[in-house]
Amino acid sequence: MNKISVLLLIVIGILSCSEASDIVKYEPVTLALEIPSNFPDIVYNLDNNPLTEAGFELGKDLFYEGKLSSNNAIACAFCHEQAFAFTHHGHNLSHGVNGGVGFRNAQPIQNLAFQTSYMWDGAASHLDLQPIIPLTSDIEMGETFSNVVTKLQAEPYYQEKFTRAFEDGEVNTENMLKALSQFMVMMISSNSKYDKYVRNEDNVTLTELELNGLNTFQNKCATCHATDLFSDQSFRNNGLSINPLLNDQGRYDILEDPNDLYKFKVPSLRNVEVTYPYMHDGRFSTLQAVLDFYDSAVVDNGNVDDVLLRADGSYGITLSDYEKESIIAFLYTLTDDQFLEDERFSEY
Ligand code: HEC
Ligand code: HEC
Repeated sequence: MNKISVLLLIVIGILSCSEASDIVKYEPVTLALEIPSNFPDIVYNLDNNPLTEAGFELGKDLFYEGKLSSNNAIACAFCHEQAFAFTHHGHNLSHGVNGGVGFRNAQPIQNLAFQTSYMWDGAASHLDLQPIIPLTSDIEMGETFSNVVTKLQAEPYYQEKFTRAFEDGEVNTENMLKALSQFMVMMISSNSKYDKYVRNEDNVTLTELELNGLNTFQNKCATCHATDLFSDQSFRNNGLSINPLLNDQGRYDILEDPNDLYKFKVPSLRNVEVTYPYMHDGRFSTLQAVLDFYDSAVVDNGNVDDVLLRADGSYGITLSDYEKESIIAFLYTLTDDQFLEDERFSEY
């Protein structure tokens, strides 16, 4: 045996010893993100926050962790429930710590890596920064980052998890936000009946009613609910009457540009069967009510999108009863049970 092999044996010996003593260390096991072939390009820059198994697991723990709130009871998952595509079931307006009622309907958490902005008004332009809003909002989680970091630092469980997930191993705000993003970036919903149909998978076909609905949808809705994300990601005013109690001005509040009055981010319609109630304030509880609205209740609130202007000068999208029925049948094909039940995203 030459000197080099002896040295090698010693080194291997040392390495296996340290493993046997179970020292917790940074273990970057890469997680692959599969981009569905019918989706547009990913927007989130993974180079700045590479996905790892340990980062994803930590992010999931944090998403389900009540200690992120001031009363230790309101986790992100409190308002974002998996069975309802991570929306707040049964609430038109979400409420959080101390029963405070918010002023908007909780959005689903799905396909966020493909989005250019977040929240109904686009208040967050980067996914890593989005959680700052709910965490520090008085009516949602009512907490400060320094308190949360102190609470997590006190727990050996989290010290270990952060050590495994990040090279510097620090339990700090930056790593917390990165871990949450890793969890949310992985939450891709792309296996609905519709997806299998457009990707020619498993011999899935649509019924005549569903196909007619898809056709009408493409003609009358897809200008705004565009691409297979079902949103062109722009801010639009779809002619809802103004709720005088909330007077939510939407995108206007971000840049104070009068052209933005009452504009809201075009929502994705994936899993829309389970994300009721609908619109930024949850005013409609059924899809039928949404379609009745587009057909006959669009109001001129001063800034309605031109796409909705009819030849006779009124606003709205004319829809027959059959068109409504078929659009709803089509929208139901966007339900992705695999995502709604995926154990990778479940608490236990
Ligand atoms: C009290 C209820 C509540 C809690 C708790 C909560 N959220 Fe939300 N979430 C909402 C509401 C309501 C919206 C829409 C807010 C708006 O547009 O102003 C939202 C929007 C979002 C969005 C934007 C989705 C999109 O498509 O733009 C993300 C991402 C998100 N929440 C993640 C989180 C994370 C992560 C946490 C925990 C740190 C969290 N939320 C805690 C209610 C909540
Ligand atoms: C001019 C652009 C535009 C057109 C055309 C349009 N929508 Fe919308 N849609 C929006 C916007 C913007 C919202 C969110 C409005 C809000 O909450 O203030 C929305 C909301 C919705 C919602 C509620 C989703 C949720 O998660 O709350 C549904 C369902 C919907 N639209 C379906 C349709 C259908 C079906 C059509 C065609 C008949 C259609 N839309 C045409 C822009 C549009």
